Amino acid sequence: MSDLKRRLSTILESPNVKVEEKLQNICTLFDQEIAYFNWTGFYFKNGDKEELLLGPYVGAATDHTVIPYGKGICGHVAVSNETFVVPDVTKESNYLSCSIDTKSEIVVPIFKEGINVGQIDIDSHKIDPFTVEDREMLEWLCKEISKII
Ligand code: SME
Repeated sequence: MSDLKRRLSTILESPNVKVEEKLQNICTLFDQEIAYFNWTGFYFKNGDKEELLLGPYVGAATDHTVIPYGKGICGHVAVSNETFVVPDVTKESNYLSCSIDTKSEIVVPIFKEGINVGQIDIDSHKIDPFTVEDREMLEWLCKEISKII
């Protein structure tokens, strides 16, 4: 297991810490450890509504605190149930801009008992920075998160 995964596991397994705080700590860890992860946040389904609500995040404040299903990269993943890697956001028509500095984005869904309940969203100021290892690590992380939510 990589050092980063080990540190993520430590956060996820820490006793007497609320889920919100664990997710916040994950955002902080990525912000500190991966130079091209410039905004990391979580969105979760808003009850029975077909919309996502912004949860813990680290990075610039965003106008997109509520995202309807189908809208933008995040809304797309809420419906597609699949990881979406966008190497260059200018090439993506269904995109909600949070910051003019954002050049690329990756969104990975989080499932609970087979239901898509949320996602991790990472924006980068670099074009095409996300590696296959990043994707695998984030998909692993979302599976681990599903065990604690
Ligand atoms: N760019 C996202 C919106 C969320 S922000 O990146 C924080 C999208 O297109 O859904």
